[in-house]
Amino acid sequence: MEVLYTKTAEEGSEKAYQLIREALDNGAKVFGLATGSTPERVYEKLVESDVDFSEAISVNLDEYVGLEGTHEQSYQYFMEQKLFNHKPFKESFVPNGVNEEQAEIERYEAILAKYPIDLQILGIGENGHIAFNEPGTALDSVTHKVELTQSTINANKRNFEKEEDVPRYAYSMGLASIMKAKKIILMAFGENKAQAVKDLVTATKADPAIPSTVLVNHPDVTVIVDKAAATLI
Ligand code: GLP
Repeated sequence: MEVLYTKTAEEGSEKAYQLIREALDNGAKVFGLATGSTPERVYEKLVESDVDFSEAISVNLDEYVGLEGTHEQSYQYFMEQKLFNHKPFKESFVPNGVNEEQAEIERYEAILAKYPIDLQILGIGENGHIAFNEPGTALDSVTHKVELTQSTINANKRNFEKEEDVPRYAYSMGLASIMKAKKIILMAFGENKAQAVKDLVTATKADPAIPSTVLVNHPDVTVIVDKAAATLI
């Protein structure tokens, strides 16, 4: 695991943007994408650039159960607003939050089997979750329905009018699905990520209590952290 320390989130986003461009130039075709505030600036940079994803495929990590893709807080909507409407891919996949559980799991696993991910972008939750894989998720998990923890609900409620509006469940790629990506870039910015960053970069083995630590077993992970997120290291 390579850890890149940058002064600011802006610098970290620039670095991630460059790595994405580099991957595309080197033939990457399938991009695993993440939502959340962390990758927003990277998407802005891609939108402002001349990068061309028209022959590439995107596969998103997760979606809230119960939200239609047209719902303003759905991850489908987020991706359209931040990236897809400006930089269309040949095809883009996001879990369907209103599909029935088993059907959605099968649909998404088939997508992942057809389009193995070349480069996966990840953020990290304050409790160490990646995608919506909460603490305790099996290391060999594939796409699954997740019950969100109170920590995640608290962190994500800022995007909703009130806490009760935050969905309690999500569909998420599993830890084993994420580990299949050829290359992974995880970004963590801000003081509220300091503990999660410490737990990740000091981990010596994968521990289901801290889902991000599954990444210690991956051969090509770049972690980009800003100064604020590195304060506990
Ligand atoms: C959500 C998403 C994750 C994301 C995390 C951190 O729970 N499912 O994919 O990494 O939040 O979000 P943020 O980048 O807004 O801190």
